[in-house]
Amino acid sequence: MGNHLDENASFARPVRLGRSASTALALLACAVSANAQTAAEAINVYTTRERQHIAPLLATFESLTRIKTNVVYLSGDPVARLTADRAAGKVDIFIAAELSHLVAAKSAGLTEAVTNANLTGRVPAKFLDLDGHWLGLTRRVRVVAASRERVSQQAFTYEELADPKWKGKLCMRSGLHPYNVLLTASMIAHKGEPVAEAWLRGLKANLAGKPSGGDRDQILAVVAGRCDIALVNSYYVGGMRAAKDKPETQIAGNAVNVIFPNAGDRGAHVSISGLAMMKGAPGLDSAALLADFLTSEPAQFVYAQDSFEYPVREDVKPSGLVESWGTPKLDAIPLGDLTSLQAKAAQLIGKVGFDAGPGS
Ligand SMILES: [Fe+2]
Repeated sequence: MGNHLDENASFARPVRLGRSASTALALLACAVSANAQTAAEAINVYTTRERQHIAPLLATFESLTRIKTNVVYLSGDPVARLTADRAAGKVDIFIAAELSHLVAAKSAGLTEAVTNANLTGRVPAKFLDLDGHWLGLTRRVRVVAASRERVSQQAFTYEELADPKWKGKLCMRSGLHPYNVLLTASMIAHKGEPVAEAWLRGLKANLAGKPSGGDRDQILAVVAGRCDIALVNSYYVGGMRAAKDKPETQIAGNAVNVIFPNAGDRGAHVSISGLAMMKGAPGLDSAALLADFLTSEPAQFVYAQDSFEYPVREDVKPSGLVESWGTPKLDAIPLGDLTSLQAKAAQLIGKVGFDAGPGS
């Protein structure tokens, strides 16, 4: 299977980053190899990312390589559609908004290993599937969003969110959402199953109400005074603060502090968005070129600007807004060690009846 670029086809040549995303992308033109001419003229990209995050990068890739990207935006569970369309030879690469989509695609037998050392060498090993079937593109950190007005405490651990002192003051989305499942998997990995179960019971008892809505809704609940702290991914706060055309959203984003838990020990929990190559796809050479582009230094920089996530490459800076939160200590546990505990985590969350809410 010729889906792996040779060294000359890489976008990895160092280029100096400009101050703006557009400058960074313009500089990429210097790094394009003539090898792109040997790749297919079009590739089929399936993605669960929102258009605004991925479309500008794909447009740049097209202009640099003259490889057209046919993009299908998926919502909800992507596996059924990926399964049908991959079988028909219509999918070359899958760019996922979150790790659970990649894990599901691999489990369904839709993906194949990326073995190109050029590519995998740029992404830290902890953000690669243990079998090489997916790799991270951005990092997403689960943080405490605390009311600026009512919470003076500046340091938190995930463990202490289960302390009765926060009774009725915690807002969280469904325990069974992949973000909370993976966080629970990390608690199992670090502390063992009995501690993780007791922790879930403590969190549940502290909830201000039955879990509902997404992470953004939890932040809005803090701002509305329904709870004091929420457990959310940090990019939601970034997106709210940057919503210049929505003053109320911006005010809400500014009404919470972003606190990275466990700064004094293992660091804050990290997940990823990422990509996977589709098994046996006709356009794998071009897909590998796209993967190479997305992990290049300039593309990594651009990808993190509007998403307010962290580039998966630790040598590339996040956006200025995100950088203003400081350089957090992050959990170094390999994601493969967490995905293997997801089923156990989901089972524990069900067992404690987390989604039934406090007092149940
Ligand atoms: Fe999200």
